Amino acid sequence: LKNIRIAIDGPASSGKSTVAKIIAKDFGIIYLDTGAMYRAATYIALNNDLGEDATAIIALLKENPIAFGNSLEGQLVYLGEVDVTDAIRQNDVTNNVSKISAIAEIREYLVEAQREIASHGGIVMDGRDIGTVVLPDAELKIFLVASVDERAERRFKENLQKGIETDLDTLKVEIAERDRKDSTRKVSPLKQAEDAILLDTTGISISDVVAKIENYAKER
Ligand code: C5P
Repeated sequence: LKNIRIAIDGPASSGKSTVAKIIAKDFGIIYLDTGAMYRAATYIALNNDLGEDATAIIALLKENPIAFGNSLEGQLVYLGEVDVTDAIRQNDVTNNVSKISAIAEIREYLVEAQREIASHGGIVMDGRDIGTVVLPDAELKIFLVASVDERAERRFKENLQKGIETDLDTLKVEIAERDRKDSTRKVSPLKQAEDAILLDTTGISISDVVAKIENYAKER
């Protein structure tokens, strides 16, 4: 299990990062939040008024590399020396990330970085195209889904804890819209890999979802 590569894909707020973090800890493997990388690229684009200029965005990403750290409250995300952990979860980034993540050059750049990180051993990666594009030969692929209502409620509670103000109905619309954009884009759309296991987490506790995935991993 030390060298297993687990790909967890699925729509927004389906619980991917929550379960991935627990599995990484239980198995002693790396956790990589690929969504945070697209969010960081989006943050750079917005903050520097770069629009969808991929060359400029990538140049700034090279100057200020994405890095991950740890704190008692959880994983930290850096751009160069700057802690952007909270900034990349704000509404402006969330509502613009699908536009930036649809750009082929940005995806190429980030996918290469993701594969490099995965080349060092056991890893659980969550995102949209991990099982289909980033790690097509991952030992275990999970496609995590949940109803829009439940996902909006989860995000609502998460946001409350982070002090981000949102309205539940607005969240439902935004989540559905982000899924639509992520699933219909030309490059690497959100799609279940043929050999991925579909897990619907609606009404299922986090610990039950984790237990299921860990059992699949042990069977491999
Ligand atoms: O996982 P999270 O919701 O933080 O991802 C934010 C956005 O990043 C997604 O809505 C999607 O547009 C993009 N993304 C992607 N491919 C990935 C991970 C995230 O396109 N592997």
